[in-house]
Amino acid sequence: MKATMTVIELKNNKSQKLYPITLGINKTGHLTIAGLDITELVKKYGTPLYVIDELTFRHNANEYINSLKKYYDNFLILYAAKAFACKKIFKLANEMGLGLDVVSGGELYTAIKSSFNSSNIYFHGNNKSEEELHLAIRNNTGRIVCDNFYELELLQKTALSKNKVVEILIRLTPGIECNTHEYIKTGHLDSKFGFDLEYLDEVLKFIAKAGKNLLLKGFHSHIGSQIFEIEPFADSTEILLEQFKHVKEKYKVELTELNIGGGIGIAYTKEDNPISIDEWAKIITNTIKEKCKKLGLNLPKLICEPGRSLIAPSGITIYKAGSIKQVPNGRKFISVDGGMADNPRPITYQAKYTAVVGNKMDLKEAENVTIAGKYCETGDILIKDIELPEITHDDLIVVFGTGAYNYSMSSNYNSIPRPACILVNNEKSEIIIERETYEDLLAKQK
Ligand SMILES: Cc1ncc(COP(=O)(O)O)c(C=O)c1O
Repeated sequence: MKATMTVIELKNNKSQKLYPITLGINKTGHLTIAGLDITELVKKYGTPLYVIDELTFRHNANEYINSLKKYYDNFLILYAAKAFACKKIFKLANEMGLGLDVVSGGELYTAIKSSFNSSNIYFHGNNKSEEELHLAIRNNTGRIVCDNFYELELLQKTALSKNKVVEILIRLTPGIECNTHEYIKTGHLDSKFGFDLEYLDEVLKFIAKAGKNLLLKGFHSHIGSQIFEIEPFADSTEILLEQFKHVKEKYKVELTELNIGGGIGIAYTKEDNPISIDEWAKIITNTIKEKCKKLGLNLPKLICEPGRSLIAPSGITIYKAGSIKQVPNGRKFISVDGGMADNPRPITYQAKYTAVVGNKMDLKEAENVTIAGKYCETGDILIKDIELPEITHDDLIVVFGTGAYNYSMSSNYNSIPRPACILVNNEKSEIIIERETYEDLLAKQK
């Protein structure tokens, strides 16, 4: 029962981030999710198949809500749409009282079509077009997070032409560089996003001159993603609050919104040990309280924008094993029916994942294999060197932690249609995104 053990061991991992919380194993040795046998899901929906567990998403969202509630009165949690942008997930997020961070007209349009509470939508991006800004303003998007001078000018023009007051945050680059598991503080960040701190006065003068159409509410920064340490978050929070103090002293205006971005890491493998959401909430809110006291500031509204830590652990991808190649005295490749186009993270970032053989959870790990995709690239490897039970074709390989930055980063490379995505809850499943067809691939071609 070693493979089974592995699942249970990992579920008991301190952070509990890797697996959907409803994961189980039934009497026939099959993996179950939300009480559903994955072999049955595959019969109904085919493979590859993205599966999102609704309870895990709700659990993670509640962890953010309850942790922040414990330590701080005034906050808003935005779901970072880029992690997985689809109507059903937006509806869940809205229903749970979360806001939304969008970065494009397309994500905004999806939010509008999901009837998302527009006042809770924050629009990011380093090159928003005039058309995108029009869409945002027309739909009363809660905040525009301004990234650069070009955007400020476009925004002022658009707001003026529509006679609207647009509430904005300014994205700052606090000079904190996170190389995922380590970080440094630098004077200037070599980043395409946001304003360097030395331009802040120029930005403030622009806004003051723009008059009543632009209303500055606060500052934003996002220092990176899949971050395991707390210190960079605390440091960037302090740096932003120092800018609040600067504005108060120099311009006699007290800003009210502090948006510290997303970025909390999750466990993709047993070796990963991220901070817990509660630990993060406790330290960040303490930092804010202490720093505000020291600087003589009122406590601002705290805004954060988690993506990965909300949705990644809710998702699994089920693949079917096909061809198997044993390199003489070398690696054994198990090829599955998906790969780099439905999960571009391994080939793009050398991201690591964990998998099990979902129809053989009662069998022991028997061999070291490499899970390869079916795309025409040597680098299309989903998992290098993993111990699994002996695999034959048609076995179901289940990869964990695929809820974030998988579907949203997927492509039709090699003209392969995207898989379906289903949502499961309480022994029920529903399609939330249909599997693409060959006809879909040709739909826009002349
Ligand atoms: C501005 C901004 N906010 C939030 C996020 C979400 O980050 P994560 O999914 O790591 O929580 C990102 C991710 O790149 C981002 O760029």
